[in-house]
Amino acid sequence: MSVQFTYGARGAEQAVNDAVVRFVSKNELNSGGVAGAIVQPQIDDALRGLYAKGLFKAEAEQTEVVATLGLYPAAYIVFVGLEMDGEATSLRLAAAAAAKALKKLRAESVQLLLSEQLLECSKAKLGADRAAQALTEGLLLALHVRQPLKREQNERFTLKEVAFVPQSAAITEEDAALWKQGIAKGKLFAEGVSFARDLTNLPGNDLTPERLAYHAEELARELDLEIEVIDEWSAAEQRMGGLLGVGQGSINPPRMIVIHHKGDPNSEEAWGLIGKGITFDTGGISLKRAEGMQEMISDMGGAAAVLGAMRVIGELKPAINVIAVIPTAENMPSDRAIKPGDVLRMMSGHTVEVVNTDAEGRLVLADGLTTAITRGATRLVDVATLTGAVSVALGTQATGAVTNNDQLFKQVQSASERAGERIWQLPSYPEYKKQIKSDAADLKNSGGRDAGTITGGLFIGHFAEGLPWVHLDIGGTAWLESSRGWETKCATGVMVRTLIELIVHQE
Ligand code: BES
Ligand code: MN
Ligand code: ZN
Repeated sequence: MSVQFTYGARGAEQAVNDAVVRFVSKNELNSGGVAGAIVQPQIDDALRGLYAKGLFKAEAEQTEVVATLGLYPAAYIVFVGLEMDGEATSLRLAAAAAAKALKKLRAESVQLLLSEQLLECSKAKLGADRAAQALTEGLLLALHVRQPLKREQNERFTLKEVAFVPQSAAITEEDAALWKQGIAKGKLFAEGVSFARDLTNLPGNDLTPERLAYHAEELARELDLEIEVIDEWSAAEQRMGGLLGVGQGSINPPRMIVIHHKGDPNSEEAWGLIGKGITFDTGGISLKRAEGMQEMISDMGGAAAVLGAMRVIGELKPAINVIAVIPTAENMPSDRAIKPGDVLRMMSGHTVEVVNTDAEGRLVLADGLTTAITRGATRLVDVATLTGAVSVALGTQATGAVTNNDQLFKQVQSASERAGERIWQLPSYPEYKKQIKSDAADLKNSGGRDAGTITGGLFIGHFAEGLPWVHLDIGGTAWLESSRGWETKCATGVMVRTLIELIVHQE
């Protein structure tokens, strides 16, 4: 979806729009105001009438569509409640609510009016560029839904043109430039998320490890990034026992994908971003139950988040080094598959007793971390649909985090706040590591049900070689049963924007 965005006062030559969006705060409706100050005198009256009766309360995400019947040069006005607190999340939510109303109206060409209050409040609290970015992200992300593969392709509604129109004469050239910058950034970020969602929504038979590597190669080619795709033979040479062990049960061989962005050749520092790329997780010999297993097409959501972020990093080319690593495999039961009790020798040399073949993510990620480190990563962030336990703890409301470095965690946390993607740190007391001690090897791959998200995280952390590391468990947040805010149902593309904020906008 490519939407044309413009910013600036409406010119007489501009085409009549299908709909106009006006964000309104409670406070604006409480105070009397000049007739016509919102959009037009009669329409303002109608809106105030609805407010007086409590039918439109200007609450967050509330929308009211009013047909203009010739009173205004657009067929509909969409009023959207906005909490005027100057928070990016409020703007993102309001824009997402507007998007849903616009979709119902099948509006293709729209205007977003920016009231004086919105302009001033967001400028003071957030900065004009970040306000513009948040509105653009909210709008585009709420519109990006899963496309079913059907015989008859339904004609799709697409938003084609969006014009941001300030309702204030006092706007400076400088502000206008900031709005335009923010819009461009919001578009780019939303594209990264959409890319991750599309990849995650692909069925398992369309997205094998080889196909995932193909998509990564396409991305690298388009953005002129260096890429290595390590096949099963060279993985064997490099002793990637975790990746090969998980992949050996499937006819579709595993891959280790490494993408480099060398933005600062003079620096020894490099971010390692590692994304779990299990293209389908049956559980292997420790087979999962049938109910809901189809959702396991999203077990490469971490890989998608890393690739989505790399898309934007490759586009913006910040002066910083990034090594993206995606260990990808299909976890299948077969006569060749690993079995409980097997011992694997990982790329790092550590040995692991496999007590549950369904704890496969940590096995491939261990080799992913080692790969990132051997390629020069000095700070590690991994993103993975690692456990079901994280949704027992946090539901779908937050991504769980485990770390060995509070300073790095703080950076990740503030990036997540800027992105409006919640993360919540879990404790990593050394005592938890006792749960993954093994009688047969250095470690075992499951510490049982108790504290499953923490022990899973600490297993991965064992392979960080003491480097600063943060683990993000998106087991509860990568996939939704129903849409909410700017997140659509099925794949959410969660953590794409957090990773970008972390790497591109270090503050
Ligand atoms: N991919 C799953 C985790 C998962 C399950 C994510 C459901 C999202 C929704 C992971 O590979 C897994 O199976 N984890 C096991 C670990 C256990 C065997 C220690 C789990 O959570 O049950
Ligand atoms: Mn599993
Ligand atoms: Zn899995």
